Parts: sequence; C-alpha cells; structure tokens
Amino acid sequence: MNTIVHTQPVLVLGGTGKTGRRVVERLLARGVPTRIGSRSGTPPFDWEDRSTWEPALRGAGAAYIAYYPDMAVPGAVETVGDLADLAVKSGVTRLVLLSGRGEPEAELAEEAVRGSGADLTVLRSTWFMQNFSEEYMLEHVLTGEVRLPAGDVSEPFVDLEDLADVAVAALTQEGHVGQTYELTGPRLLTFADAVGEIARATGRDIRYVPVSVEEHAAAAAEHGVPADVIELLTYLFTEVLDGRNARLADGVQRALGREPRDFTAYVRAAAAAGAWDGSALAA
Ligand SMILES: NC(=O)c1ccc[n+]([C@@H]2O[C@H](COP(=O)([O-])OP(=O)(O)OC[C@H]3O[C@@H](n4cnc5c(N)ncnc54)[C@H](OP(=O)(O)O)[C@@H]3O)[C@@H](O)[C@H]2O)c1
Repeated sequence: MNTIVHTQPVLVLGGTGKTGRRVVERLLARGVPTRIGSRSGTPPFDWEDRSTWEPALRGAGAAYIAYYPDMAVPGAVETVGDLADLAVKSGVTRLVLLSGRGEPEAELAEEAVRGSGADLTVLRSTWFMQNFSEEYMLEHVLTGEVRLPAGDVSEPFVDLEDLADVAVAALTQEGHVGQTYELTGPRLLTFADAVGEIARATGRDIRYVPVSVEEHAAAAAEHGVPADVIELLTYLFTEVLDGRNARLADGVQRALGREPRDFTAYVRAAAAAGAWDGSALAA
C-alpha cells in the first residue's frame, strides 16, 4: 500500500496512555511529525476543557482519537463528535477512532465522528490483553486473586501492539479509509484461562475467582475506587461481557495481512519485562 507523507503533525489523543503511547512510539520511529494530545502534552489537551482543543488541533493533518475514560460514559458521544467536527474545521483530514466492540454507545460515537466528513478508520476493539498488566486488573493479579464478575464468559483479548500497528497503518498508509476493523486476538479465553497462563508464566499462585457484580462493586468501594468508575466497570462487566463478544474477528488480518499476537506471547513478553513483579514497565 502507498505510504502517506505527513508534513503536518499527527495528533495522538491519549498519547501517553495504553494505546496512544504505542502509536506515538511507532510514528516517531517512522519519522512522522507527532504531537501528544493529553493534559500533559504541549500544548495541553483536556477533554473536559474545550478551550484546549483548538490549540492542540492547530496545524495537525491527522489525528488518532482515544477518548478518556470510556465511550460508555454519559456525554461521550457528543464530546467525541464535537471534537471530530472541530478537527475537520481546523484542517484535519484523516481520523482514526478507537472504539469498543459490542458497545452501543461506542457505535453512536463512531457515527458522530463519521458525520464530521473526515477520512475515517474505526478500530472497534475487544478487551485489551494489557488490562492484566497495565490497568485495573494488574492489582488483582498482584494480590493472587482476580476477583471479577466475568463468570465463565470467553473473550478474544487483543494485544495493544497489534492495535497500535493497525492504528499506525491507518494513519500512514492509503487503503484504510472507510474501514471498520474489529480487532481481536486469535483465541477465545475465559478469565480463568487467561489468569492460568499468567500464573504458569510467572510461577506464582494466581487464581480467577468469579464474583457477583454486587460483590465486585462493594470490594471496589472498600478499596476507594470512585463511584463513577465502579459504575463504569459494572456496566462493562454486565453489558459488554455477557458473551456477545465471544467470537473472533479478522480486523488485524485485514488491516495488516498477518495473524494477531496470541495471549501466550503477550504473557511471556509482559512477564519478561517484569509486569507482574513491579521491577519494570509492562511489555
Ligand atoms: N480497556 C479496554 O479493554 C478497552 C477496550 C476497547 C476500547 N477501549 C477504549 O479505550 C479508550 C482509552 O481507554 P484506556 O483505558 O486505554 O485509557 P488510556 O488511553 O490508558 O488513558 C490514559 C490517557 O488518557 C489521557 N487522559 C486522561 N484524562 C484526560 C483528559 N481529561 N483529557 C485528555 N486526556 C486525558 C492520559 O494522559 P494525561 O494524564 O496526560 O492527560 C493518557 O494519555 C476508551 O475510550 C475506551 O472506551 C478500552
């Protein structure tokens, strides 16, 4: 596929986060002018302060949009749609949107962004493998008990290295405009399977313990997790993890022409990088 030469910066919203920092690393390695769009970026970008949007967008030719905290929170659809409209008004022509698989609100946000008229590629992602090593599930893993209301549902966790490869392909190559890539890994795993793999790779005693949503919410509140975050997690565990996503998709293969990385490879790399012993950054 033909490569796009970016003379204007590519703005990466959430550029210090789990997906965005991987996108930034790849763009910089290709010599693409890149700007981080987050509260710690220069200039700072804050989803909650619209006066920061125009300065962050100024002069950019393309943007990767990862909304924070989640497409499912109230107001996200309007906010993301408004940002896309302003981006196009500011001269951004190409957008890559991180969306959530099986989430009705995320699909509404996709529509809102499509309405901006930008050349759009949607990455409709399943649960990240890195949630076990860089997110809220890390703490569970470190305590040795992953107590989640996920029953025995299967999930085709996706590796963020693959997601970032797809995002960068969509930002830097022709042929991805108009595509919606459903991104999954190559294998369905239950949470018990996933935790079992981490236990074997680390040689530690780590178990998955299925709990009710009520027990999960109560435990999170005891640990000081804010109420809105508990509400979001409860939504995700009840709505999105009801089995609707227990099937593989071919977005990685379609976008990159190769197979996605397996959970075992992710676990080996994350364990080698010290993700579960606190000695280094997660892989
Ligand atoms: N986790 C999953 O399994 C999953 C699956 C599918 C889709 N998603 C989607 O992924 C997206 C990102 O989620 P994530 O959990 O991976 O988060 P993340 O990208 O790791 O979030 C942190 C990033 O957001 C920035 N940020 C935080 N608050 C901000 C604010 N008010 N304004 C601007 N930037 C802000 C942070 O930088 P600063 O601190 O510098 O501001 C950082 O760059 C969500 O839209 C979610 O729906 C997640």
